[in-house]
Amino acid sequence: MTTLQVIRSVRDLRAALEPAQRKGELVGLVPTMGALHAGHLSLIEAARKRSGVVVMSLFVNPAQFGEGEDLSSYPRDEARDSKLAAEAGANFVFAPPVEEVYPAGFSTHVEVDGLTNVLCGDPGRRGAEHFRGVTTVVAKLLNMASPDFVFFGQKDAQQAIVVRRMARDLDFPAEVVVVPTVREPDGLALSSRNVYLSPAERERASALNRALQAASSSRGAGVDGALGAAQAVLAQAGIDPEYLEARYADDLEPAQSFNGRPVLVAVAARVGKARLIDNVVVEPSGDPRQDSLSRQSRSSDE
Ligand code: PAJ
Repeated sequence: MTTLQVIRSVRDLRAALEPAQRKGELVGLVPTMGALHAGHLSLIEAARKRSGVVVMSLFVNPAQFGEGEDLSSYPRDEARDSKLAAEAGANFVFAPPVEEVYPAGFSTHVEVDGLTNVLCGDPGRRGAEHFRGVTTVVAKLLNMASPDFVFFGQKDAQQAIVVRRMARDLDFPAEVVVVPTVREPDGLALSSRNVYLSPAERERASALNRALQAASSSRGAGVDGALGAAQAVLAQAGIDPEYLEARYADDLEPAQSFNGRPVLVAVAARVGKARLIDNVVVEPSGDPRQDSLSRQSRSSDE
């Protein structure tokens, strides 16, 4: 367990990181909105392995919540989160107040075109504004901490793909590292929104991952066949997905086949009050590897 310091301002964050950066130590940033679970902790552990100093940001970003989303009820427990972050190896928790991130008159946004109006960014769903909120705050966090690495979970694959594109397009020097999804024993992806599930809903929710597994093992039947197999698993659990789609993992264009580039098979569904998402990447070889998004990073461990 590291000794942890909680930081509230950009000035203090830069002052805290400066000595390490001057010595050439690598800094890893793990952006979160708190309500930490083992998925977040795996990002901190991944950061620990690659960086001498690990900063976890804890900021429930109002800009990425739409109307009717759970901004006001989003679970907040900074003391618990800080303790867990320290145990997982974070050196600093950067938990700024909203005014520190969005001062009065704030009027600059970062938008990534194309990748953000499909899947969760479809205008009828969370919309591209959600991703605009994410890329704006992540760009700010990258400028605040100047990390060498920034860590994202494959669980939110579209977010990771969008952020990676932003970092490339805007020449952020940080390497975007994508970490495999952490799951419950029955395959349900860990999510801070799983707390909204009743025991019966929790049981049904495991069908999301079973559907994705069915899709990847039916890849021989082509894209439509694989999506049909997944759809059948969802239907059996009484789940009507918001979307279930196969798109190329690099540009999120609709996938025509599994024989060319890696394909992201992504699902979103409402189960009770919770809106859940999950995905799998189907490799051209037919080997669904959890870490295939991470293997697109500029320098990998391979
Ligand atoms: P949050 O939902 O708190 O997630 C923080 C990070 O944890 C994200 O990179 C997410 O993909 C990762 N994560 C969540 N569940 C995971 C799981 N089961 N396995 C592995 N990683 C998991 O995503 C956000 O916050 C925000 O959009 C943020 C990037 C912080 C910008 O505000």
